[in-house]
Amino acid sequence: MPKTKFIKDFLSGEKINDIFLLTHKQLCVGKNDNQYLSLKLVDKTGEIDGKKWNISSENEFDDLVEGKYYNITGLVNDYNGNLQFRVDSIAKTSENCNCADFLASSPKDINDMKKKLNNIIVSVKDENCKKLLHYFFDNQSFYNKFIEAPAAMTFHHAYVAGLLEHTLDVCNVADKVASVYYEIIKRDVLITGALLHDMAKIREYKIKSGIEFTNEGHFIGHLVMGASMAMEACKELGLDEEFCGIISHMILSHHGKLEYGSPKVPCTLEAMVLHLADEISFKVHYFVNLVQGDKSDDAFTKNNKTNFETRLYKGFVNEYLKKKEEEETEQKITDDFLKMWQ
Ligand SMILES: [Fe+2]
Ligand SMILES: [Fe+2]
Repeated sequence: MPKTKFIKDFLSGEKINDIFLLTHKQLCVGKNDNQYLSLKLVDKTGEIDGKKWNISSENEFDDLVEGKYYNITGLVNDYNGNLQFRVDSIAKTSENCNCADFLASSPKDINDMKKKLNNIIVSVKDENCKKLLHYFFDNQSFYNKFIEAPAAMTFHHAYVAGLLEHTLDVCNVADKVASVYYEIIKRDVLITGALLHDMAKIREYKIKSGIEFTNEGHFIGHLVMGASMAMEACKELGLDEEFCGIISHMILSHHGKLEYGSPKVPCTLEAMVLHLADEISFKVHYFVNLVQGDKSDDAFTKNNKTNFETRLYKGFVNEYLKKKEEEETEQKITDDFLKMWQ
């Protein structure tokens, strides 16, 4: 049974019967000295507090395992202005859960991103580039994995469809640079490299109860795997050696420096611009993550030694995050209102 009810769509008074990920459990004692269970239930759209007022067996608390999926029935109610989930029954699910339903996903609309991906692919007119892009993106299995893959385990775009979001960011930045230096930069080559630079992340990570490295991700990594995927494709398509070298080099060198895991340092303009566009996407996203994660009243974050070598000013990013939250709340009120009349 696929999951149909998501936490962000819960309405007060609604009866629920669906699968949730249990992330926290606590055995509590109420005012009347009765024991009850306090549970944190999660899916990809958020989390909710669950209360199970009647404990059905002595072992019920011990039998629950944090990090496992449960089939839960109950009623959503309003408690001091917040939604709470009265859990009536909780049972281990026998279903094979689709992890994408329970992991955080890109905040951007996936269908909209798919359209943008398609627009970028069809904007490429160079024959060799076109053949190579169609080789990968017309392959349904590759395409499906590319759409769902995360871009990282931590730091940036570490969620379902993160690779797609990051790839579009890199393409957009690269395209802007190419439009400024249109006389000297081979735009279609640059965009092809941008589209394919992280493609091997579909093999580097796997999604289980979280994002994990695969064995080949550990042993080889997405730069070398990606370059070998591109080389194999070029060979199969009969594309010339120089083109194959130029594209493979962009993939191998996109981390920019040997100490950042690139076996090659960029030696073409296109490879250099791709590396910088990749760094911009990573750093902007990571900057916002650091500010968002810093809950202190200070105007600046703690010193970030690894990537920024300074404390980051939170003002502008916080303004943006506040505005985004207000817009999301407004949207939720409108959606809830419309649902009541459906
Ligand atoms: Fe990368
Ligand atoms: Fe990247």
